[in-house]
Amino acid sequence: MEALYSRPGFDRKLNVVVLGAVVMILLAFPPGEAFDPLDPNGNITIKWDVMTWTGDGYMQAQVTMYNYQQYRHIEAPGWILGWAWAKKEVIWSMQGAEATMQGDCSKFHGDVPHCCKKDPTIVDLLPGVAYSAQSANCCRGGVLSSYVQDPLNSVASFQIVVGKAGTSNITVALPKNFTLTTPGPGYTCSPAKVVKPSLFPTPDGRRHTQALMTWNLTCTYSQFLAQRAPTCCVSLSTFYNDVIVPCQNCACACRPNISQPLLSTVPMCVDPEDVFAQSTSSANQRPGASAIIQNQAPPTLLYCSMDMCPIHIHWHVKTNYVDYWRAKVSIINRHVKNYTMWNLVVQHPNFNNLTETFSFQYKGLTSYGAINDTAMFWGIKYYNDMLLEAGDNGNVQSEILMRKDPRFTFTQGWAIPHRILFNGDECVMPPPTSYPFMPNGSIKVKTGLFLHVVLALAVVYLATVL
Ligand SMILES: *[C@@H]1O[C@H](CO)[C@@H](O)[C@H](O)[C@H]1NC(C)=O
Ligand SMILES: *[C@@H]1O[C@H](CO)[C@@H](O)[C@H](O)[C@H]1NC(C)=O
Ligand SMILES: *[C@@H]1O[C@H](CO)[C@@H](O)[C@H](O)[C@H]1NC(C)=O
Ligand SMILES: *[C@@H]1O[C@H](CO)[C@@H](O)[C@H](O)[C@H]1NC(C)=O
Ligand SMILES: *[C@@H]1O[C@H](CO)[C@@H](O)[C@H](O)[C@H]1NC(C)=O
Ligand SMILES: *[C@@H]1O[C@H](CO)[C@@H](O)[C@H](O)[C@H]1NC(C)=O
Ligand SMILES: *[C@@H]1O[C@H](CO)[C@@H](O)[C@H](O)[C@H]1NC(C)=O
Ligand SMILES: *[C@@H]1O[C@H](CO)[C@@H](O)[C@H](O)[C@H]1NC(C)=O
Repeated sequence: MEALYSRPGFDRKLNVVVLGAVVMILLAFPPGEAFDPLDPNGNITIKWDVMTWTGDGYMQAQVTMYNYQQYRHIEAPGWILGWAWAKKEVIWSMQGAEATMQGDCSKFHGDVPHCCKKDPTIVDLLPGVAYSAQSANCCRGGVLSSYVQDPLNSVASFQIVVGKAGTSNITVALPKNFTLTTPGPGYTCSPAKVVKPSLFPTPDGRRHTQALMTWNLTCTYSQFLAQRAPTCCVSLSTFYNDVIVPCQNCACACRPNISQPLLSTVPMCVDPEDVFAQSTSSANQRPGASAIIQNQAPPTLLYCSMDMCPIHIHWHVKTNYVDYWRAKVSIINRHVKNYTMWNLVVQHPNFNNLTETFSFQYKGLTSYGAINDTAMFWGIKYYNDMLLEAGDNGNVQSEILMRKDPRFTFTQGWAIPHRILFNGDECVMPPPTSYPFMPNGSIKVKTGLFLHVVLALAVVYLATVL
């Protein structure tokens, strides 16, 4: 009787625990409140500079997007910017970008505007477009680099000529409801705010011209809003234990068809993310955006695996020296897709004294001033900056040399990173209980060539004496 009675109580406790966990997750990633502890100020700032106004209501403006995120970039098929006009504005023409839909311009006779929609959707032009359609910082197919990896290409801009836009800073109405998609969700944009007009130096730097009016807005990313399944997983090995800890089963998705062979020479599984993108593209995309997905990115195929992750990261604790230790990180692509500007962010307590990386570029991300335990890695131009599609060449790797921190230990998984992000997406780590443990007894410390030579000489000496 008592056992039967206590059951529901137990379930209720469990429910409270589950509810508590859900609340904590919601508090950690509140919808719309983006906060990335590794990049607390990361945002994309969009600035409109009004360059000219004419008496009959034309406005020419320059729109510039600055990616101030340290490691999150926007890959092909690229950024898609949207807003809603506050009044009856129309876009007469654009340079360096275009509206995906013209909309209903039947009220116009003679000259027809570029776009008459109340909520235009703007995309970048493709590289190689006619020179007359270009503007500075345009035409990269919507690709926007991260601020750390490639500051020059972290800026995009286009020019726009707007009709019925008012004739001064009093009669103009700021566009509303800005949206930024990539083409998936994830970014939330603030309302536009009038700020101090931008200054533009003349080429000789002796004079500055000034925008007639400037407004700014910022868009911030939240993994919660992006609702993306993980895209990468981590496996581990160490020199002190033969165990290789694989990626977690179902880390990114579960294998859709168990009878599909794992060790196949052809990619047979569809990328879980493409399945997701296609199921949501019709539901919450602006018109034209889904066409871009379909035109530019047919579903990509993946080599099937137990974790179904397109990207597999392997962390190997490789060598122990007296004052230093060495790890090796490999990024393995299982996707039939090239990653042109991959980056990796790794949080490890010893990165405060990262001494050298051998085949990657790196920069410490100092999110909290003195505590710099996070580093960003990316490829060396023309050598391994492109992570090639799955196959023999579909991997990049580098060794990392670190000077031992005072807290350094091989026990308790200290040598294993806390977090790893690939292209800004958090990778699934194996559970800490599975980390390779230190076997009993101490580890042999590599003491350098000198000692080896001394030992070898001693052995030779002993051998000749005896
Ligand atoms: C956006 O990023 C810039 C550069 O890091 C920063 O100065 C600015 O305060 C950020 N804006 C917001 C609203 O976070
Ligand atoms: C902006 O979005 C809000 C909420 O979705 C909506 O009520 C409002 O009408 C929109 N404004 C314009 C100008 O479309
Ligand atoms: C409009 O511009 C004038 C001067 O150019 C300035 O004094 C005024 O504050 C501006 N008004 C707004 C709403 O920005
Ligand atoms: C508006 O954005 C631009 C570009 O990021 C920046 O230089 C400027 O300081 C911003 N203005 C304000 C008042 O935030
Ligand atoms: C699963 O894969 C096998 C072998 O590739 C195939 O014959 C079978 O039709 C697949 N089943 C489903 C439900 O896709
Ligand atoms: C990836 O890049 C290589 C070398 O540039 C090229 O041969 C291959 O076709 C590309 N693969 C895809 C899927 O674009
Ligand atoms: C961490 O900070 C120290 C001193 O503040 C600096 O010497 C070191 O280069 C930084 N590490 C990284 C990875 O940037
Ligand atoms: C980093 O290494 C240097 C010697 O290379 C040492 O003086 C310093 O204390 C170390 N810093 C930390 C935070 O361990």
